[in-house]
This record gives sequence, structure tokens and C-alpha cells, in this order.
Amino acid sequence: MASPLAEPSQDLAGRRAGQAGPGPRLPDGPHYPRIVQAWLWLKQPIWFLDHCSRAYGDVFTMRLPLGMNLVHLTDPELVKAVFGGSGDVLQAGRANAAILEPLLGPHSVLVLDGPEHLRQRKLIMPAFHGDRMRAWEATIREITRAQTARWPAGKPFALRPGMQSITLDVIMRVVFGVEEGAHRDELRRRIVTVTGIGRNPFLLLATRGRRLGPYAPWARFIRARDELRAALAGQIRERRRAADLEQRGDVLSQLLLARDDEGRAMTDDEVRDELVTLLFAGHETTATSLAWAFDLLLHHPGALSRLRAELDGGGSEYLDAVIMETLRVRPVVALVERYVRQATKIGQHEIPAGAIVCPNIFLTQRREDGYPEPAAFRPERFAGQTPPSAEWFPFGGGIRRCLGATFATFEMRIIIPEVLRAVALRPASRRPARIRRESVTFVPADGARCIVSARTSSGRAGRRPRSARPS
Ligand code: HEM
Repeated sequence: MASPLAEPSQDLAGRRAGQAGPGPRLPDGPHYPRIVQAWLWLKQPIWFLDHCSRAYGDVFTMRLPLGMNLVHLTDPELVKAVFGGSGDVLQAGRANAAILEPLLGPHSVLVLDGPEHLRQRKLIMPAFHGDRMRAWEATIREITRAQTARWPAGKPFALRPGMQSITLDVIMRVVFGVEEGAHRDELRRRIVTVTGIGRNPFLLLATRGRRLGPYAPWARFIRARDELRAALAGQIRERRRAADLEQRGDVLSQLLLARDDEGRAMTDDEVRDELVTLLFAGHETTATSLAWAFDLLLHHPGALSRLRAELDGGGSEYLDAVIMETLRVRPVVALVERYVRQATKIGQHEIPAGAIVCPNIFLTQRREDGYPEPAAFRPERFAGQTPPSAEWFPFGGGIRRCLGATFATFEMRIIIPEVLRAVALRPASRRPARIRRESVTFVPADGARCIVSARTSSGRAGRRPRSARPS
């Protein structure tokens, strides 16, 4: 894509960037005014990332309004250094909190640092243990089948909303443990309302705390969030009293039973914030990754046939490779952030306090030296192989690595074959979807449009793999 802008002279821009004074200097980066960089980052993120990477190499600083400096890292060695670094110096919670805390709440594992973060993490982690997850397999299949039965035949439609519907139902059934009925419908409505308003967090933040009346985005968001919190609080109170609490396999029940090292349980407010976190961290990310997987498969008939043949034979190695390659070439989360609490050295780079270092998932996973022809979709790269964790990290890393990574891949391993078994799909356009930013995620611009050309519930896509074992 052609440059939407010409750069101002380095000299002038260097002064504007204001790097005078003692202490380490930020690594170099584009010299456009901050507001222009913010616009490019929001509206042309792929062009901007590629441009910065070509112009400045493995480390560059994006300067955004309000003095926010994002230091992007695309060298696996530097990524490794950040993920292995001290959580007291490189703080993910503080970096996440600015945008996410109003939605997730002050006890969310995503916005905490230090011992509080580790406590919440340890309390949540056992709920996603492999054995527990296996019990959810039948539910996930059933939800997928119900959704595919609703897809129209012969007409183009966007797959992503269908995937969102599946992953939301999965969260409500296996995370919240809410059965069919009025409660579930009410909860679903509340979630969809908050998600809808939250699609544009930047508009939200622009109206934050201002007196713009009850219909301004921020005021509507706070109302919808509080209604969702109240509905979840009701579920939590009810579940605490459930006679079968100890026998239940859902995540909410496990959170209520969990005890920390000192034998303390989570408070209702903590449980509520973690439920909201699991919902928002886990629902759209997985749905969008699924939509990308289908968009790529439908535009690569060779890969699709190989996958179908494997599923016919009951195997799953190529399926795993398809999932890994999808998460490599279309990572839903483009980067992770760590707030630099005190000046620190990363590789040869001195990073000043107050900057935010960002292991850049999108660019690192597209390095030519790690992945020949990096923009091409080639699941074969991963057949039978696990990539090094600093070259493939769609789920972030270190003590902040995604708590739902195993669950997300488990879901994808079930949903992809189940969809292929139920319907024959073809793409609605000749080319794969463009990447568009939506909130903090990268999504298919057209929602991954496709057409159901036949219903194949007789089992065209073959036998079920032995089990979608969690890895
Ligand atoms: C394909 C789907 C998913 C992707 C691509 C994804 C990606 C990520 C990324 C990049 C992070 C930040 C890690 C870091 O800062 O190093 C993260 C954190 C997190 N994710 Fe996921 N995620 C997915 C699905 C899920 C699911 C299904 C759940 C739970 C139901 C979940 C729960 C979380 C939680 C709780 C954290 C915070 C971990 C912490 O701060 O300690 N995610 N995820």
C-alpha cells in the first residue's frame, strides 16, 4: 500500500518528539505528530506496522497522544527477555488497566500486578485443567451443531457472528454454568449490549467522565456494565447456595470452591470481575480466530482438502497445524503490553521508565527468517512441530500467558471439524478477507463471508477425531 503520508524531516520531528533531558532515550520511530500516529495505528494498523518495521527494524517507538510511548519489539531474543523479565519492572496489569479496568473491574487478573495478580491466577488456573475440559466436549459439539443448523443455504453470510454466537454459548454453559431458560437469555442480552458499546473503546474513552447526558457512549456503557455486574452477582449468590456445588464442572463453581495458599476463598466481587474477564478475554478472541481459520481454509482449497481427508481418517495432526498457522498469520491480538516501572535494559536497548514495551505478535510471527514467505498460509510449516515460544506467541507469554490458551485451542479443535461435518462451505469472495482493527483485535473486514453450498450432516467430513484432547 502506498504511504498515506510523507514523513516530516527527521530533524524537526526529533525535536517534536521531545527527547531532551537525562536518562535513557526511547528507541527511534516514526516522526509524525502523535495524533497522526494514533490515527494510523487505529485506522491503518497493518500498513503502519509494516512501515515502521521496514524503516526502523526490530525495535521502534510509536508515539501516541497523552505522552504514551509504545516500544515495539519484533526480535525473538528481545521478546524472550521481556517474557522472562521481572513482573515488578515490566507490568502488564498497569498497561492493561488504562483501557480495560472500567469494563473488567479492579480485581480482574488482567489489570493486577505482583502478588495480587499471582493469587488470582493461581485461583483461576485449576478450573481450566485438561480433565475438566474433556467433560465439556459434548456440550461444545451440541452448541456448534445447533448454530450450523441455522445458517442459510445458498446465500452469502458472515461467519464471524455465527462463531461469536457459538463461543458465547460455550462461555455461558461451561464457564458460567447457566442452563437454558430466562436467566440465560437475560444474561446473554446484557453481554451483547456491553459488547456492542465496547466495540469502540476509543470513542468510549473520549466521552469518559464528561457530562454529555445519559445517552453518551460512556454513560450508556456504565449503565449496561452495571446491569451485567448485577446479573452476575445474582448468579454468584445463587451458586454459592447450590446443593450440588461440589459436583459441578463449570468454571464459576470451581472459582467459588478455590482457596489460596492461606485458605481464603475469593470474595463475590473478585469472582464477578474474573467472570467478566473470562467472558471478554475468551469469547470474541476465540470466535474471531475461528472465523479467520475458515476464511483461510476456504481460500486455500488444497489445505481444506488435506484437512478433510485427515478428519475422514480420524486424525488431528494437520488440524493442529491449521490452528497454529491461523494464529500465526492472523493473530487476533497484535501485541501485548508491559508498562516499564523503572528504566530497564532489554537486549542492548535502555528503555526509560514510563514507556510501554510491546512484544509485537503480528510482526514477530511474520519474520522472514523465522517463516519463509511469511504472509502465506501454509499449515505444513507446523505439521508435527511445536514452534519456539518466542517466535510463535499468539497467547502472549511469561507469567501473563493467556489463561485460556488450552481452552481456546480445545474449542477450535472441536468446532472446526464439527462445522466441516455439518455443512459444505465455499467462500463468497475471491480473496481472503482484509485485516481490520476492531477495538483491540484484528478481525476479518467482511466478517469472513461464505456460502453454505450443501448440508452434509450425513457425515461427509468423516469420523470424529478420537478426542479433541486438550494439549
Ligand atoms: C484464540 C483465542 C485467544 C487468544 C488469541 C488470546 C490471547 C491472549 C493474549 C495475547 C493475552 C495477553 C497475554 C500477555 O500479556 O502476555 C491473553 C490473556 C488472557 N486471556 Fe486469552 N486469548 C484467547 C482466548 C482466551 C480464553 C478462551 C480465555 C478464557 C476463557 C482467555 C483468558 C485470558 C486471561 C484470563 C488472560 C489474562 C492472563 C494474565 O494476565 O495473567 N483467553 N489472552
